[in-house]
Amino acid sequence: MNIYIYENEEGFVQSAANQVTSLLNAKPYAKLGLATGSTPIGLYTRLIEMHRKGLVSFSKATTFNLDEYVGLPENHPESYRTFMNEKLFKHIDINIEQTHIPNGNAADLEEECRAYDQMLEQHGPIDLQLLGIGHNGHIGFNEPGKSLTSGTHLAPLQEKTRQANARFFPSIDDVPTHSVTMGVGSIMKANQIMLLIRGEDKAEIAHRALTGPITTDCPASLLQCHPNVIVLMDQGAGRLFK
Ligand code: PGA
Repeated sequence: MNIYIYENEEGFVQSAANQVTSLLNAKPYAKLGLATGSTPIGLYTRLIEMHRKGLVSFSKATTFNLDEYVGLPENHPESYRTFMNEKLFKHIDINIEQTHIPNGNAADLEEECRAYDQMLEQHGPIDLQLLGIGHNGHIGFNEPGKSLTSGTHLAPLQEKTRQANARFFPSIDDVPTHSVTMGVGSIMKANQIMLLIRGEDKAEIAHRALTGPITTDCPASLLQCHPNVIVLMDQGAGRLFK
């Protein structure tokens, strides 16, 4: 596991962007695993800028998002489909047909999970999987607990997660209670994982996940078992690593 701590936002964002663009420049048909949340927004903005400067093309890439809320219409402002379209896809040359996000409105969610896994299996492995981390150590919406699920599944959101995400909704009652998320097994199949962590408030969980025991109580700790993980942190998140 290679851990990099950046003094400023610029270094953090540019390094993350360089990982993505050098992959795409070497392998235009690359498969990218994408994440939502506030952490990767700077990266996506930089990728748009680099695309506009002619430094990278996404035209042959295929993307797979980690998760989606259950029950939000696709065009809801807080759906992860809307997030990805607004923050990245509509500003780059990607073929929207090649962008995949679990359907949180499927009539049969179990079937949707099976179909998403099948698609990952057919296209896989993902070349580069982006991840953020929740304050409770979740990756995707794989919340801490006695056990974790390997494949894509319907996952209840923990209260802490709903509270953290309430900032995007009119009230906590509007935050969905469930998600469809890729499982840790699917995440771990990626050839390379890039974990991005920003902010003082993530310092403790970052330290616990990357240096503490490997346990389902902290899903991100399983990344210690993956042979090719790069962790990019800002100074706040990396505070306890000094
Ligand atoms: P954040 O979310 O980037 O908004 O902090 C990360 C996550 O919950 O995985």
